[in-house]
Amino acid sequence: MDKKELAAEVQRLKKEKNAVILAHNYQIGEVQDVADYVGDSFGLAQKAAESDAEVIIFCGVHFMAESAKILAPEKKVILPVKEAGCPLADMAEVEEVRAKKKEHPEAAVVAYVNTSAAVKAEIDVCCTSSNAVQVVESLPQEEILFLPDKNLGHYISQKTDKKIIIWEGYCVTHHRVAPEELDKVRENHPGAPIAVHPECPPEIVQGADYVGGTSGILKFSRETAAQTVIIGTEMGMLHRLQKENPEKTFFLLSPRLICVNMKKTTLEKVLLSLQELAPEIEVEEEIARRAKQSLERMLAIK
Ligand code: 13P
Repeated sequence: MDKKELAAEVQRLKKEKNAVILAHNYQIGEVQDVADYVGDSFGLAQKAAESDAEVIIFCGVHFMAESAKILAPEKKVILPVKEAGCPLADMAEVEEVRAKKKEHPEAAVVAYVNTSAAVKAEIDVCCTSSNAVQVVESLPQEEILFLPDKNLGHYISQKTDKKIIIWEGYCVTHHRVAPEELDKVRENHPGAPIAVHPECPPEIVQGADYVGGTSGILKFSRETAAQTVIIGTEMGMLHRLQKENPEKTFFLLSPRLICVNMKKTTLEKVLLSLQELAPEIEVEEEIARRAKQSLERMLAIK
């Protein structure tokens, strides 16, 4: 089958199986194009909770599909590629989180959604890159243990008066961006605004014109009067940016902004997952119950 036939078969099977396809902004273009909804981790969690489909085909990475299952336990949640993980999420393990909590008994524990369900079950509230500062500010505690991304933790600490205890994790993709790359794009594209994700290192965040999650970067790019924008997040974003803003030009801040896990999902894999309704994501009941509270507390913060 060629790509067009594949996409048509995906649409046909999707209806037959009463499935909805959710895709993260970092997915490859052909996968984004067959999705019912493309968005950031916050929007995808909301959509999973709201959807009335029986099956969710989650085109993203493991922790995202796990959150979808926790929020919509009655649905079948399928992650087309079982091995699509998140090295950042793997940087916080349950036992380490418990030990850190003991060291800081007064602190509220806020975890980025890029964590396992088991870790979400140990914490007070989740956040995403789009609401991290807001979540921290909504809590009564003055001390916050934030995990697992140290760069996002540092960014939050610059935006709040609260004491942020920062975990030593990082996104292997965003953490790679080097200050020389920032200098180089400024030189090559003078005047073009630079929009970066807060998972980038502090030197990059400081030097950027806009800092935000993927939905924030999309909004900034749409609204700026600039015709050329430099994008400091995973390269999958370029597909949607270019599609929604055909008159503008987008350049990646670094050619190394590629998340190999997000690239594992192909149209062929999406079709196979619809045919087989596998691999299915399951979360142990007691973990899911506690993790759900952390996710729902986040979703309730306006
Ligand atoms: P968003 O919160 O914008 O979806 O970013 C998620 C992520 O994993 C970034 O690497």
